[in-house]
Parts: sequence; C-alpha cells; structure tokens
Amino acid sequence: MEIKRIAVIGAGAMGTGIAYQAARFGIEVNLNDIKQEFITNGMNKIKSMVKTGVDKGKLDLKGAKAIVEGIKPVLDVTEAVKDVDLIVEAIYENMEAKKELFKKIDAAARSDTIFATNTSSLSVSDMATVTKRPEKVVGTHFFNPPYTMKLVEIVVGDKTAEETIETAIAFSKKLDKTPVKVKDSPGFIVNRVLGALMGEAIRILQEGLATAEDIDTAMQLGANHPVGPLTLADFVGLDIAVATANTLHEGFGECYSTPKLLLEKVEKGELGMKSGKGFHEYK
Ligand SMILES: NC(=O)c1ccc[n+]([C@@H]2O[C@H](COP(=O)([O-])OP(=O)(O)OC[C@H]3O[C@@H](n4cnc5c(N)ncnc54)[C@H](O)[C@@H]3O)[C@@H](O)[C@H]2O)c1
Repeated sequence: MEIKRIAVIGAGAMGTGIAYQAARFGIEVNLNDIKQEFITNGMNKIKSMVKTGVDKGKLDLKGAKAIVEGIKPVLDVTEAVKDVDLIVEAIYENMEAKKELFKKIDAAARSDTIFATNTSSLSVSDMATVTKRPEKVVGTHFFNPPYTMKLVEIVVGDKTAEETIETAIAFSKKLDKTPVKVKDSPGFIVNRVLGALMGEAIRILQEGLATAEDIDTAMQLGANHPVGPLTLADFVGLDIAVATANTLHEGFGECYSTPKLLLEKVEKGELGMKSGKGFHEYK
C-alpha cells in the first residue's frame, strides 16, 4: 500500500518532527494530542522548523506553505485516525498508555491501516496484543530530531506481516530516511549498543577514574565519535536514559544494571540539557 495520509498521535518532540518530515514529502498528516493547547504548541514548533528551513535555504516558500497546510490539527483521536493509511504513535514511553491508545484507535481506524509505534525500547509484539491487527503493527523508530537524523529502525514484532514491513520500509524511504530491520528485542539495535556505551562511560566517572570532560574527549578523539557518551546522555535526557537502562536491565540482566550515579542525578533533578545540568553544565 502506498502511504498517502497518516495520523501522528502525540505532538511532542518526535511527533512534530515526524509530521514535518512527512508533510515535506507530500503526505497528508492529521496531528493529534490530548489537549488543544498541546496541538497548538506542536503546530508552532512545526512553523518554527519551517522558518529555519527557509532561513537556511533548504525550503522555498511554496514548500514551506505546503508543509504547514499539509498538517491538520485534529483533537478527536477517533476522527484523526478515521481514514488514514498509517498511524505513527509518538506518545509517552509508557506501555499502559500506548496499549490504551492502541485499543481505542483499533476500533476507529480502517481495517487495513498500519499501526507504527515510535517506541525507543518497549516491546512492539506486546503492544500489538491489544489490537485485532497484530500483523499490521510495526515499530518505526525515528531518531531525534526526526528531520535531520537519517535512521529509522523498522522493528518487527512476532506477528508483523511481511507486507507491513515492506510498507514501513517504503514509508521511511519516502521520508528520505535509511531503514534498517531488527527483530523486536529490548533497545533494538541503537539503544542496546548505546546503553552499553553510556553505561560504561558513567561507571568510569562513578569509579572516579576520569572526569566527564576527559571521558567525552577520549571517545571523540580515540573512537572518532562526533560527541562523547556523557554529552549524548545529557542530550537524550537522563530520565529517558534511566527508562532505557531499566528496560535493558530487565531484558539482559546484570551486565546492563542501571548505574547508581545515573539514578542519583535523576533524583536530584539533573536531567541533562533540558534542566541545565547533567554530566555537564549548560547555560
Ligand atoms: N525524544 C527522543 O529523543 C526520542 C527518540 C526516539 C524515540 N522516542 C520515542 O518517541 C515517543 C515520543 O517521545 P517524545 O520525546 O516526542 O515525547 P514528548 O513527551 O515530547 O511528547 C509526547 C506527547 O504525547 C502526548 N500524549 C501523551 N499521551 C497521549 C495520548 N493518549 N494521545 C495523544 N497524545 C498523547 C503528550 O501530551 C505529549 O505532547 C516515545 O515513545 C519515545 O520513547 C523519543
């Protein structure tokens, strides 16, 4: 099936970026959130992405207008999903919330509509169990920010049909992304590898072996990473890093135990760039 219309549920950081990217490539988007205010904030974020695109010469005025006009704010979720080819779920990283949403939209969406979750680490197969269409449930894990990051992990649940996988791959390519396929498993590819990397970097700091600055410099200059693992954790958000670390710990045992220092930072409200302090300070 060619994807022409989608609904994006959740107008936060990822939902707005995915809606922008889809509209940029001519897909009609219904953008939904739980409150009108959140949808309006999301639309404002999209308008500012469009303005940046124009200012940087990446978008012309016609393209800019088409993006804004191609995204329709829709508060009623059943209305938002009613006649779309694919739904991108980008709400909070919480299994119960995602299952509740999937149950609700399963009854409202067309029987051939694909459900694509943007979860970073939760089980796609588990999420699919609350629907009557597990073969049409797939993970499309975009990275932050979705308009610049090239990768989409296509997460294959235990009941995901081949046709659904192929459609999800074609959809991500249409959005100018590079898809990789991975079977449903905690952290998929990127977050599992990054979880190990960030975990070890935090443990080196926790053991007092090197400073945060030196750990990041070492990985940038010694491993050619564009940013160090501690700066990356600050960018992702240390609360999100804890959620991912807990999922990996549950899935793979002690070698993925959540570092004590990471938990202490989150308890103190040091959440990384968004709170002004994490492993580094931000002014
Ligand atoms: N932020 C990242 O770096 C990143 C990267 C990749 C994947 N993800 C994943 O993408 C998803 C969204 O993350 P985010 O960072 O955009 O979150 P966010 O907190 O910025 O936005 C989530 C939005 O969903 C809305 N929402 C919550 N419940 C809803 C519901 N039932 N119906 C409609 N809207 C609802 C919230 O009001 C909020 O606006 C999560 O699963 C997250 O793990 C995040």
